[in-house]
Amino acid sequence: TFTPRVFSGIKPSGGLQLGNYLGAIKRFVGMQGEMETIYCVVDLHAITVWQDPQELARGTREVAAGYLAAGLDPTKSILFNQSQVAAHAELGWIFNCVARMGWMNRMTQFKDKAGKNAENVSLGLYAYPSLMAADILLYHATHVPVGEDQKQHVELTRDIAAKFNHDYKTDFFPLTEPVIGGPAARIMNLRDGTKKMSKSGESDMERINMLDDADTIAKKFKKAKSDPEPLPENVEGLKDRPEARNLVDIYAALNDQTPEQVIAEFGGAGWGKFKPALADMAVAKLAPISGEMKRLMDDPAEIDRILGEGAAKAREIAEPILKKTYDIVGM
Ligand code: ADP
Ligand code: NA
Repeated sequence: TFTPRVFSGIKPSGGLQLGNYLGAIKRFVGMQGEMETIYCVVDLHAITVWQDPQELARGTREVAAGYLAAGLDPTKSILFNQSQVAAHAELGWIFNCVARMGWMNRMTQFKDKAGKNAENVSLGLYAYPSLMAADILLYHATHVPVGEDQKQHVELTRDIAAKFNHDYKTDFFPLTEPVIGGPAARIMNLRDGTKKMSKSGESDMERINMLDDADTIAKKFKKAKSDPEPLPENVEGLKDRPEARNLVDIYAALNDQTPEQVIAEFGGAGWGKFKPALADMAVAKLAPISGEMKRLMDDPAEIDRILGEGAAKAREIAEPILKKTYDIVGM
């Protein structure tokens, strides 16, 4: 049996967006105090696609500032930066030798990201889910809060743990559970509602950035694609209305409500009423966080200090697990 322990991470590749907040960070905060919690800025994952070095350093501090501003407390959670704990890369290599090509070939996120360009993406992008398994299993994490897009990777993590345990006749690694759910599991973009909101989407108008100011947030929701119908009188009426569903989900997730509760309040309302209410809600919830993020980012040395202390704590857990893994493998 394994002690309940949470691990998750966010890539510092571009600015934080609302999907990262609702699908990940807000839920990270909710788990703090319930179990041991470890949250990482996964820069080794970011460079699977080329990053401008200065922008990578800035983005790393932005994710850390987002964690802190949203309520993660470095005395309650371990907060650190992946590249500072070398054991991630070391266990990642071992798992590259456990994971099977056929498993990696089935990863839908790789197919989406590589698109027609699969001959010319990095080997790292292909291997990234195996490094993610190392991130998680290096801490014997039992629970991983993520958005729905990461579910397949957590399942791969279980497959890697099971194969390692089988191949080396051990029960050293846990079978980790993804923790996914609620209206924030998959926030879609504002342009067409059919693709998930992402840091790397084509246009800035299709996502809400955590650092957007109030006017920008209002403008983006006003321009968000919606259909001509008013909001339905019950949630079943959101079926086959992806843009409406998404905007209701965003409102619900921001305000800790269910979509049913939002429809109970706004059923029958037109977009002229709901979009401004949504924009006001988003500003009310995000403005205090973005204000605090900006304040923190004005003092990069302090962020680096917090990440450095977190890395030292992370190493205390990770290094004995890596050493034992080497023992098991015969190294
Ligand atoms: P991005 O897709 O913005 O580059 P990451 O890949 O770094 O973000 O994901 C960090 C976390 O945020 C993951 O748990 C991921 O599932 C979650 N996440 C990202 N986008 C969304 C979204 N649109 N809806 C819900 N969760 C999301
Ligand atoms: Na993602």
